[in-house]
Amino acid sequence: MQKHRPPGNLSRRALLSAAAAAGAGLAGVRSGLAGEAAKPDPLITEVQDWQRYLGDGVDKRPYGSPSKFEKHVIRRDVSWLTASAESSVNFTPLHELDGIITPSGLCFERHHGGVAEIDPAKHRLMINGLVDKPLVFTMDDIKRMPRTSRIHFLECAANSGMEWRGAQLNGCQFTHGMVHNVMYTGVPLKVLLEEAGLRPNAMWLMLEGGDASGMNRSLPLEKGLNDVLLAFAMNGEALRPEQGYPLRAVIPGWEGNLWVKWLRRIEVGDQPWQTREETSKYTDLLADGRSRKHTFVMDAKSVVTNPSPQAPLKYRGRNVLSGFAWSGRGTVTRVDVSLDGGRNWRTARIDGPVLDKSMTRFYLDFDWGGEELMVQSRAMDSTGYVQPAKSELRKVRGVNSIYHNNGIQTWLVRGNGESENVELG
Ligand code: MTE
Ligand code: CO
Repeated sequence: MQKHRPPGNLSRRALLSAAAAAGAGLAGVRSGLAGEAAKPDPLITEVQDWQRYLGDGVDKRPYGSPSKFEKHVIRRDVSWLTASAESSVNFTPLHELDGIITPSGLCFERHHGGVAEIDPAKHRLMINGLVDKPLVFTMDDIKRMPRTSRIHFLECAANSGMEWRGAQLNGCQFTHGMVHNVMYTGVPLKVLLEEAGLRPNAMWLMLEGGDASGMNRSLPLEKGLNDVLLAFAMNGEALRPEQGYPLRAVIPGWEGNLWVKWLRRIEVGDQPWQTREETSKYTDLLADGRSRKHTFVMDAKSVVTNPSPQAPLKYRGRNVLSGFAWSGRGTVTRVDVSLDGGRNWRTARIDGPVLDKSMTRFYLDFDWGGEELMVQSRAMDSTGYVQPAKSELRKVRGVNSIYHNNGIQTWLVRGNGESENVELG
């Protein structure tokens, strides 16, 4: 019956299950690799329109955009989550990405007062407070200072925040999509602080945004001198307006709220300012009623993006499971994946660059026979830290928290390939 030889490394098991699926008449569930030799495929035998007619010339796309067939690959918001779209969030479509870099147009956005539109010629950065010489920089001044490029993840502390009390949102875009990973280019903050000259009692910095919310946060000076960048570019071009054009703070490994966008002022002080964003928000209410402050670091976390509720399994036999892992404390050293809700674990294949405080890509190549799966992933980082189960996290933190939920995610994949967000007891 089968005329063509199947690709060499297709397993016997995959072939058998494909045959079984065909026999059982399972609509849409077949092996895409075995080929259907019975009738000729017009996509092979007939000349198509895109071969017959000339395509667009080079004058049609001065700035390129994705194929029209990729229209579904977009940031999405959840309208009931916030009262207004200006103080809100949309989410990165993690299940549509590959590799480790988030395309600029798909980076989630989180604003407290909408997207400020700032003419770079009118933008100023002031450094004042406990310094020898208060300074004001133009964007041109900043671009004449020594610069560097780094790839880092930015995760909002509220990522997965809806999931504290149990499985809520159906899709990794919504449960985990408040994270992105791009290459930033900018000037180390240390260079600017040294130019202003720090007073001996300088201990803290206050970063202030130039948007309508004037968002501000206190940052320990030590971090500011260590690896903070003031970035004007992402992914090789100017920052996008929604990511803080023309200037934003990059605070590697620390919660997204500290990465002040549209950065207009840095004040040097000897203690934290106790701003709204570090007292009433971005603190963690513990089970005993005390509140944990200054939880800066984002601990190791991972998520399987494929399969997931927005990315069903379409074929039996050969499949690629994929996902992201990241840690605010260093590099990802290992990712384990379970297909049976944590009973058995297999070490995933880490692929592509493994960088400090960056998202890392993992894959697990597996055969699916149509059985129910409970898919999980567990990241480990270079400090030896292991991503906890949600139950372990709740033992320490209770259920009052919103922020810093890095617990292990479970997707229940059903026999038809569709999956949903579940939590194991
Ligand atoms: N900076 C200013 N000026 N205004 C803001 O509303 N939001 C913060 C931070 N910096 C914010 C800001 C929060 S809570 C996060 S998670 C990140 O920016 C989001 O960055 P992004 O929009 O590039 O994803
Ligand atoms: Co945030």
